[in-house]
Formats: sequence, C-alpha cells, structure tokens
Amino acid sequence: LAVVVLISGGGSNLQAFIDAQQRAELPIIIRSVISNNADAYGLERARRAGIATQVLDHRTFFQREQFDAALINLIDQAAPELVLLAGFMRILTPVLVNHYDGRLLNIHPSLLPKLRGLHTHARALANGEVEHGASIHFVTAELDGGPVIAQARVPVLKDDDANCLAARVLIQEHRLYPRVVRWFAQRRLQLNAAGIPELDGVK
Ligand code: GRF
Repeated sequence: LAVVVLISGGGSNLQAFIDAQQRAELPIIIRSVISNNADAYGLERARRAGIATQVLDHRTFFQREQFDAALINLIDQAAPELVLLAGFMRILTPVLVNHYDGRLLNIHPSLLPKLRGLHTHARALANGEVEHGASIHFVTAELDGGPVIAQARVPVLKDDDANCLAARVLIQEHRLYPRVVRWFAQRRLQLNAAGIPELDGVK
C-alpha cells in the first residue's frame, strides 16, 4: 500500500510506521514524508530511512485553501492510496479533505468525542478523567470530528502530570496506528457510503 505521511514535529508515529514496515509487519511503501515545518525532527527520521521528504511552509500562503491546493499537488505527485496525518498540526479545509475522502486518516490523543482540540493530556487531568487515550479516525472537515475507527485506552494515575500521561498515550499510539494502517493495506477497512467505518464488513 502506497502511503504519504504528513508531519509537523517529532514524528514518533512516523517512526512507528517505519519500524513496523522494516520488520515486515506493515505492507506499506512510504512514498514521501511532507512537513509544514522545516525543523520537524520527523524529517530527519525519514531521511535516515531513505524516504523522500518535502517541506511546504504554510506561512508562505495567504489562505488555507491555497496551502491545501499546493499540498494536494505535492501529495498527488506520490500518488498514494492512503494519506496519514501523524502529528500534523494544520487545520485542513474541505478542499483537501474532500479530495482524499475515505483515504485520509488522523490520530488524535484523546478518547474522541472527548477532548477535541489541543492540550488534551493537561485537559484530561484538569477534568479529573480516570481514563484517557488516543483515537484514529477518518478525517472530515470537522476538526477532530471524523468517524472513529479505533481507540486505545490508558489509565490516568493519581500522580500523573501531562508529560507522563502523554508518554503513556504515545506508547499506545505507536501500537494502534500501524495496526489500523495494516487493516487498510489488507483491504479490510473502509469508510462506507454512509460515512461509517467498516472493518471486515462490520460497522
Ligand atoms: C501526539 O500526541 C499525537 O497524538 C499527535 O501529535 C503528537 C506528536 O505526534 N497527533 P508525533 O510524535 O509527531 O507522531
């Protein structure tokens, strides 16, 4: 399965894909890694793995739609079957989301629909949540609002701070995201006509 991965930062989820692929546990070809941030450490991870990288700085565009149109051109040069947002920190407009309908995934560090948006770990603690986690969903125009495919749960422990909670969630992200991408590669996962994720035909 040919994929393109979009990043903005550390790229630990990208690294999980690279490691799983190199262990022959994930039948994907990462055709390119695209970042909106030239300093993203994930670009270094891609280079070390011999994966093509591109930077598209969102600050050079006046409108989100123009950035999205340029991003579509870059992505489509790699002709991926699946586009993966992994720590990508730009809000995408319907221009891009509709173009990749049903083949654009994102991972969000919360148990959606709880805690959409940023700083989810600190907010989980502030809310006194006893459970937290990560969600993988198809991307729609609604921020962190697309249909959820799979979730991983972790306990919130009494002496947790945002950093150690985030670290516990990341461990689960790195297990869950490659598993969901494998389902897609195995043609087991799809977004049906009603916009509901189906795994092996089951909603
Ligand atoms: C993680 O919290 C992830 O849930 C979110 O971005 C953060 C960094 O991800 N998508 P990564 O290390 O850049 O993959």
